[in-house]
Amino acid sequence: MRLDKFLSNLGFGSRKEVKKLIKQKRVRVNDNIINNPSAHINPEKDIVYVDEEPVTYQKHYYFMFNKPSGYITATEDKDYPTVMEFFEEVPVYKRLFPIGRLDIDTEGLLIITDDGQLGHRLAHPKWEIEKEYYAVVKGDVLDIDFSKYEESGIKLKDYQTKPFKVKVISTSPEKSEILITVKEGKYHIVKRIMEALGHPVLYLKRVRIGNLKLDPYLKEGEFRELTPEEIKNLKRLVNLEQD
Ligand code: URA
Repeated sequence: MRLDKFLSNLGFGSRKEVKKLIKQKRVRVNDNIINNPSAHINPEKDIVYVDEEPVTYQKHYYFMFNKPSGYITATEDKDYPTVMEFFEEVPVYKRLFPIGRLDIDTEGLLIITDDGQLGHRLAHPKWEIEKEYYAVVKGDVLDIDFSKYEESGIKLKDYQTKPFKVKVISTSPEKSEILITVKEGKYHIVKRIMEALGHPVLYLKRVRIGNLKLDPYLKEGEFRELTPEEIKNLKRLVNLEQD
């Protein structure tokens, strides 16, 4: 692979910017400073350094983010801060985007990536990727037989949902804690389901997307890269795994 393409893929800038970097003699391949942008390297074998820092070849970035309340899930917004503000230090920041959406007041698991293909598939309704939420809802939910919704979903005012599952964690006359798993990413889906059942959502946090669980060590507003295993498992869900 060409050296300038390699560095550009890694987020070191456009081809033009990377060429400049190389011309400035800031790039070393193994033991040699290279000043020819069209030089070829073997991404698997060669060790490339920029400003004496080794860089590793990675085609895409994948992050797990614990979204705090108060941030919009978008790359830009004129009125509210966006989740992307947390990623400004990441070299490929401009190429990153969130997969799916959480409401401004919803917390928890978001995947942030620059992999358009994975993003598109995980969010596409056809794949019916499970999303699990921890919710605190108003009132005691013990009056509800949730099992029937596992078969047929629920008819909302203008929309028939897909089947969903609810596990009750605790109840009291004032509020209940539940885990609810839905297979769609429709706008306000959990809030609308629980509202229709007479138990409006008071607090909502996403804890799982498909086979990816929110890391309990990740505090609100923190992110970490997904492990190779986690990336592989997510890709497997949507038929993108190569090996
Ligand atoms: N369902 C909702 O109502 N809100 C979210 O943020 C996610 C799912």
